[in-house]
Amino acid sequence: MKLAREDKRNKDVEPLKEIKTQKEYFNDPVLGPPAPWLDTRATEETMDHLWNNINHSVPGDRIKKKLAGNILKSYFIQDKDNWLYENVLKSMVEYLWLRESWSHYFDIAVAKQRPVPEFRLHELWVNFQKQHEFNPPHFHEAAYSFVVFMKIPTHWKEQHALPMNVDSNAPCASDFQFLMGQGDQNPVRTITFPLGPEDKGRMLFFPSWLVHAVYPFYGTEEERITVSGNIYLQESTQHKAERLLYGKDSFQTQK
Ligand SMILES: [Fe+2]
Repeated sequence: MKLAREDKRNKDVEPLKEIKTQKEYFNDPVLGPPAPWLDTRATEETMDHLWNNINHSVPGDRIKKKLAGNILKSYFIQDKDNWLYENVLKSMVEYLWLRESWSHYFDIAVAKQRPVPEFRLHELWVNFQKQHEFNPPHFHEAAYSFVVFMKIPTHWKEQHALPMNVDSNAPCASDFQFLMGQGDQNPVRTITFPLGPEDKGRMLFFPSWLVHAVYPFYGTEEERITVSGNIYLQESTQHKAERLLYGKDSFQTQK
């Protein structure tokens, strides 16, 4: 399919290239859809806050049967004074909420008919992942979720060079991965994040429906430490009234 004809009048104008496959479309920075996640980096202040929260966690406060991770040590932690939500997460929530649909953007930012709904960080936990442990593909039953890589003890280059990986056409030891459906008759698209020690402080923030997985790492007794959380929509009185009045529910999972 030709998207544009070559401009014969101006030799300096680059004609748009042909987009032949759905994969090329998704990877095109101009024509493709925006990634549904945010890839950012926590500040030193945020990292200090998270380490402080981790150090004050109760090791016995284990998340039983609540997480998909095949990981022995996962503990709830508290966001002291709601600092993480107010200073870091709230702006990300509002950005993705406005970007999620035209009606959200129009009602809130253009017509100013209603405020951004209230959200709440309801679950926050730390994973101490050991070698061989992993997180199978899963999603979270919330509105938005995130992961902060606190410590990555391995480098993806070494992990992908292990004997079992080196001849694979898809080496993925130690990687984080998103999996996105592309509709009927199209394969699931995987977006992989190879990780190393330099990713300390990297944060991926995403809608909770987005399926993700973590592959195991090998060859060290050091733990890989990540902090994750779930953010839920709080149904305000006004929204509840609208829902009862109009009989429609435009909201996501509530808790
Ligand atoms: Fe998860």
